[in-house]
Amino acid sequence: MKKIKLKDKEFGVSLDSEEIQKIIKQLAQKINNDFKDKETPLFISILNGSFMFTADLLKHIDFNCEITFLKLSSYLGTSTTGNVKELIGINEKIQGRHVIVLEDIVDTGITLEQIVHDLKRLKPADIRISTFLFKPDAYKKDIKIDYIGKEIPNDFIIGYGLDYDGLGRNLADIYTLIQ
Ligand code: IMP
Ligand code: MG
Repeated sequence: MKKIKLKDKEFGVSLDSEEIQKIIKQLAQKINNDFKDKETPLFISILNGSFMFTADLLKHIDFNCEITFLKLSSYLGTSTTGNVKELIGINEKIQGRHVIVLEDIVDTGITLEQIVHDLKRLKPADIRISTFLFKPDAYKKDIKIDYIGKEIPNDFIIGYGLDYDGLGRNLADIYTLIQ
C-alpha cells in the first residue's frame, strides 16, 4: 500500500485518483440532468477543502452556470472543533436562484447546517447539496444531501483538497490515517 507521513502521522492510500475521477464524472452527470433547464445555477464551493473537487467537477458541467467561493473553518488537527465561522462572504445575488453547495466532505454536518442556515436568509429559489465524500456514521444533522460521491467510514482522511494541519491538500489520491 502507498503510504505517506505528515508530521507525526502515517497515512495509507484509500482512494486513488482514477477512482476519484470516475466518481466525479458520475456526480456531474446527475447534476447536469437535474439542472439542464434551470436559469444560470450558482455553485458555491466551500474553501479550502473543496478546491480540487470543485475544479474537477466543474469541467464536466455542461450548462451555463456561475461559481463563487465561501470560506469557513471548523477543524483543528484531526477532530472538529464544533465551532464554525464564516470567514469570507458572498457578493453574488442569491435571491431567487438555484444554488448548489459543493463540499469536499460532510462529517458531523455542523458546517453544512451553518452554511444552509446562512444561505436560506438570502432567499434562494432552492439549495442543493453536493459532497464528494460523506461519513454517514459521523453525521448528526438531518439536512438532505442531494449528491454524494462516496460514503466512507468514520476515519480521518487527507489528500485531494483535505488536510492534516494544513498539509496534504496537494495529493491527487486520498489517504486514511493508519491507527
Ligand atoms: P463537519 O462540520 O464536521 O461536517 O466537518 C466538515 C469539514 O471538516 C469539511 O468540510 C472538511 O473541511 C473538514 N473535515 C471533515 N472530515 C475530515 C477528514 O477526515 N479529514 C480532513 N478534513 C475533514
Ligand atoms: Mg470543507
